[in-house]
Amino acid sequence: MKNANLIITGARIITPLGQTARRGKDMNELFDECGTVEITDGKITYVGPDRPGLPEGYQVIHANGKVVLPGFVDSHTHLVFGGFRPDEFIWRLNGDSYMSILQRGGGILSTVEATRNTSVSELRTKAEHFTSVMSRMGVTTVEGKSGYGLDCDTELKQLEVMQAINFDSDRKVDIVPTFLGAHAVPKEYKGREDEYIDFLITDMLPIAKERMLAENCDIFCEQGVFTVEQSRRLLQAAQSMGFGTKIHADEMVSFGGAELAGELHALSADHLLHASDAGIQALADGGVVTTLLPLTAFTLREPYARGREMMDAGCAVALATDFNPGSCCSASIPLIFALACIYMRFTVAEAITALTLNGAAAVNRADSIGSIEVGKYGDLVILDSATPNVLPYYTGMNAVHCTIKRGRIVSRG
Ligand code: NIG
Ligand code: FE
Repeated sequence: MKNANLIITGARIITPLGQTARRGKDMNELFDECGTVEITDGKITYVGPDRPGLPEGYQVIHANGKVVLPGFVDSHTHLVFGGFRPDEFIWRLNGDSYMSILQRGGGILSTVEATRNTSVSELRTKAEHFTSVMSRMGVTTVEGKSGYGLDCDTELKQLEVMQAINFDSDRKVDIVPTFLGAHAVPKEYKGREDEYIDFLITDMLPIAKERMLAENCDIFCEQGVFTVEQSRRLLQAAQSMGFGTKIHADEMVSFGGAELAGELHALSADHLLHASDAGIQALADGGVVTTLLPLTAFTLREPYARGREMMDAGCAVALATDFNPGSCCSASIPLIFALACIYMRFTVAEAITALTLNGAAAVNRADSIGSIEVGKYGDLVILDSATPNVLPYYTGMNAVHCTIKRGRIVSRG
């Protein structure tokens, strides 16, 4: 990465503080002061009142009171995929259901087919385009999942695309790679789900580990996909190999995924549209980041997850896009702010924490990103305004003036 020296003066600096996820009512507490942020060789070296004079060798931005936030962390996406599925979207508008399309061999399985048939260079060009779009909306780190291969070669191909982007010194975002081989049951293993889980544990996870292709392991724990018992077996094996664990839980029905995430002290449990009361308590007790994906609920016409109740129960809540070609073909950070504040009753401060420090915690990077503090990477967003209230108020419109990655301006909003 090309790290740079940058000083931003006269900024309204707004950030959560800390090296771990903020839970419950602490999500509403932000540092909010005017002053300077200094970044030296890509890392934050000063946050505080404006000082007289400017050192040599730094690019200078006079913010004129504009808001400066930590770069957004989109902690749940499926950004490497072949094809698109616009027809399926229209079928759903006409009454078809997401799960019945999958059960007929479409949905995720049709993207699996397309991804198997797409070259590495095409997948990379497409994923890089998406990262540029995300960067313009203030994203500086994005999680990316495999899961559109469901065979050894294609799962590795997806992870290698993410690794190649991370090796590019001009990249606009860092990608945190997650192995999601258990995204659906491949047609080759239909009716032999346990054998497929064995294959993932004995063949795929060790390769992903050895080649440093994935940091986390995820599974779609859902009625008609993988059971709670299969999820427990895969995620426990992943934990024993040193992976962080994540789980697509209680997305379509209440299924016990939240309870399992709490039991395993998973890094995060995601979706949770139908999480039970006991599940919410288990997430709070287990210290699991509760990752909510309102754009998916919106596009699937499902009720939003109970974010307010989760925060009131003491959960650490993150917000993310779930960007993927099926259930949610949107990477819109602006729309997330609007939906979270309008329909899920987040305060603006809670939504900021959810998209910065708690997103960082959901990808195990809260010690290095997610807040504006000395020692962390200089990944920042400058808004086009002196108030953060524009984030939900500019409904679905971009409030970003520019995005800064390790001290370098990488995008303008
Ligand atoms: O998070 N539910 C499982 N996986 C994705 C959707 C993937 C797809 O439809 O391609 C999700 O919603
Ligand atoms: Fe997802």
